[in-house]
Order: sequence, then C-alpha cells, then structure tokens
Amino acid sequence: MSKKRFAIISVLLLVLAISFVSAAGSQDSKVEDKGSLVFYAGLQEDHAAMIAEEFEAVTGIKTEFVRMSSGEILARLKAEKGNMSASVWYGGPVDGIVAADQEGIIEHYISPEAVNIKEGFKEPNGIWTGIYIGYLGFVGNQAILKEKGLEMPTSWADFLKPEYNQEIVVAHPGSSGTAYTMLATIVQMMGEDAAMEYFKKFSPQVRQYTKSGTAPGRMAGLGEATVGITFLHDAIKYKKEGYKDIIISAPVEGTGYEIGGVALLKGGPDQANAKTFIDWVLTKDVQEMGKTVGSFQFLTNKDALPPEEAMSIKDTKLIDYDFQWAGENKKRLVELFSRETSTVAPTK
Ligand code: G6P
Repeated sequence: MSKKRFAIISVLLLVLAISFVSAAGSQDSKVEDKGSLVFYAGLQEDHAAMIAEEFEAVTGIKTEFVRMSSGEILARLKAEKGNMSASVWYGGPVDGIVAADQEGIIEHYISPEAVNIKEGFKEPNGIWTGIYIGYLGFVGNQAILKEKGLEMPTSWADFLKPEYNQEIVVAHPGSSGTAYTMLATIVQMMGEDAAMEYFKKFSPQVRQYTKSGTAPGRMAGLGEATVGITFLHDAIKYKKEGYKDIIISAPVEGTGYEIGGVALLKGGPDQANAKTFIDWVLTKDVQEMGKTVGSFQFLTNKDALPPEEAMSIKDTKLIDYDFQWAGENKKRLVELFSRETSTVAPTK
C-alpha cells in the first residue's frame, strides 16, 4: 500500500471511530437522562434518604430532598410560590398540606395507585394521599422519673400537676407538625376556649419548646428531658436504637393522630417525575421499606403489613381527628396558641 493510500484509509477509520463513539455517547445520554426531582421531606431524615436513593436507583431520576419540619416546609413553599424548587411534599402530617392547599400551593393529583390506599386515608379531590399513620403520645425517661420520684404521665390532665413543672419538653406547633397535631387534638377534644385555658396552664410547665417533633423523644432517651410529647412510633424507634430508659404511654382521655401524606406541588419543576414518585411511594413495597430504617408507623396501603414494632400501641384510644378542619384552621390556631402562651417557634 502506498503511503498516501495508507494515510487516507487511516483518516477514514479515525472518522468512523469518532462518529461511532459519539453516536454511542448520545445513545447513552438518551438512556441516562431521566431528569431530576426535588422533594421536601417531612418524615425522618434517614427514611427520606433511603427513599431518594431507592427511587433514583429504580428510575434513573436524579433525586434530591430537603428534610424540614412541617411548619418550615409550609413557610418555604409560601416564600417560593411562583418560583418553586421542589415538586413533591413527602411525609409529615397532612394538616400542613391542607394549609398549603389553602394558599394555592398544591396541585391536586389522584394517583392511579390511590385505589390501593384504604378509605379515609386519602383526600377525595387529590389534595393529599396518605402514606402512614402515627399516634400522638407521651415519652419519658424511666431512670430520671424514678430519680425524681415521678410517675409517667398517663393523661393530658397530668401535665398540669405541679410536680411536672419544668419537666416537659415538646415541639412548638408553629414549626412542628407533631406539635400542631397536639394543639388541634386538644382543641377538638375540649373546644377552643377550654383548650386555650389548658395551654395557658400547660405552657409554664414546659422547660423547652423544640423546633422538630422528634426532638423530645431523643432528649428523653438521652436523659435531657424527663417527659415529652411526641409520636409514639418515634419513641419506639429511639428505644430500639439503644436509648433503653425510654418509656411510653398514651393519654387515657384519648389522643390525636397524624396521617402522613404525599402531595404534588403546584408549579414545581419535573411534574411528570413527581407523579412517578408519588405513584411509587404509595405502593405496598415502598411503604413497607420504612421499617428498615426504624419508621414504625401504621401503613395506608391495604396490602402493606404494619411493622411488628407498632403492635404494642395498636389499641391506643384515638379521637375522631378532622384533618381538613385542622389544616384549614392551622394558621389561626398557631397564632392563637403563640399569643396565649407568649411563645414563638424556635428556628434552630
Ligand atoms: C417524624 C415522624 C413522622 C412525622 C414527623 C413530623 O419524622 O416519624 O411520622 O410526620 O416527625 O415532624 P415535625 O418535625 O414536623 O413534627
């Protein structure tokens, strides 16, 4: 072969190789580019992280989340209205989602998977769909209680007794969905006036209002709090993680509960990916994944098995909690609570 012919063939081969590689590259990027998704998570951080990782692995959609307490998510969404950076609200009591809907932030979406969610645990117009159920109750540190000669409280009335003065830790309803569940529970049980009388006496008993609803359980576990109010499944999680002195009880008068929900955010980017995510998190298998990271709520999918760890609290006496009412009155009741108790939600 002449030198010239060799050079021409080499160049041709090179061009062929380059176009082959770049074609393969663009094919690859077609396969790989599934877009992205950002969700705001109102449930435990480790649960949100596991779900984001699994969703990305299953769908190829690059997934990120920010964990915030319910009141913080609501405040962030209000601030971002018209310029949303997230597309889904995932977890946390649905009262917050109803309150967001009142602000025009929720895109109503009825997932095809909602047919598998039990009746009463999905909003008929698609404002929210339930993913789990958590019961509100009390958490204590039995070693500290013993040391101080105190009994574990078993009623809402107990918290007003002089011996619990400055022994109680609870989140603030302005930041925490857990604490708002407490506020709305007491109002639904007693009526608004009697509830505010209750909180006026209750508040001076409180040593610390925390930002997040899970903090009282962890503080009781660490011995930093004698008693607290929290969702019982969170206290069960911390006990299982090794805080052996944790003890739980539920109020004899009855207690409120949360439906933890998922919702589509109006004007958020990646609406199609957001719907894929919502459909996926409602499935039995994904709901059952929660227990692998210590989320021991009851589940809403009719085929999903509740975690074994939740069985000890299954007979808790519950009130007939009205989520729509609680959401619609959230802003007003939080303001009223803050005024009557002269407290504000902590920012840290
Ligand atoms: C924890 C619980 C959830 C609950 C959430 C509320 O993550 O496991 O069931 O929905 O707290 O958080 P917040 O900080 O708003 O009270």
